Amino acid sequence: MAAYRSYLRDVVATKASAREDDFASALLEIHDEDPEALTHEEIGSILYSLTFAGHETTNFLIANLLRRLLEDPARWDSVVADPELVPGAILETLRYDPSVPVWRRVTKRPVTLGGVDIPQGAKLFLWLAASGRDASVFPEPEKFDLRRTNASKTLAFGKGIHYCIGAALGKLEAHIALETLIRRFPRLRLVEGQAFSFHPNISFRGPQALWVRAGPG
Ligand code: HEM
Repeated sequence: MAAYRSYLRDVVATKASAREDDFASALLEIHDEDPEALTHEEIGSILYSLTFAGHETTNFLIANLLRRLLEDPARWDSVVADPELVPGAILETLRYDPSVPVWRRVTKRPVTLGGVDIPQGAKLFLWLAASGRDASVFPEPEKFDLRRTNASKTLAFGKGIHYCIGAALGKLEAHIALETLIRRFPRLRLVEGQAFSFHPNISFRGPQALWVRAGPG
């Protein structure tokens, strides 16, 4: 990660004198107008954060979505038969198997949550994924239900002032991916017997590889 951060510093320095039609160059234009408003260091930081915030999250959402639909072929087949189920399948995946299961907060004042006293300045890892398994909100939370009507009532995209800025984009990308796959490969199946492995990272979750067959032969 340190090497990648340093690589991005070089990218910003290079593009500062050789603009192209890309996001880094657009950010550099803001820097030109007011160097204090957005420094080179901050531009590198935005590029760095977006690589993970905007890519890994959505990449894993698509993989989790495919995994959950294909692990029960009848589920996949029902989405193929009725593409109207696509948005619900995406929301249900974000509830049942979210790609950002854990996110961070720092307490600004002492607080008691769920009977636990937490001091000011505590660094918290919030188990966002647990919100999707709250039985008082979701009947039969362990059941993946394509037709659940309130699947969006989770913390899959966080909450409050830092709510995911890319939530609509991430869902749109997943929508396009699934709609394209059900059209192009309606008989898609998981390769049987594969064991999934995951990056050793608690914030972003999805299989490192997902092997599929395009059809029965
Ligand atoms: C679809 C999959 C995605 C999931 C599950 C996801 C999840 C999250 C979560 C849980 C947070 C923390 C919210 C909080 O602290 O309350 C977050 C923040 C953020 N996300 Fe996403 N995200 C996704 C896609 C994206 C995309 C596609 C982008 C940008 C292209 C993006 C950009 C961001 C940024 C910039 C923040 C920080 C917002 C802030 O701190 O004010 N995310 N996301």
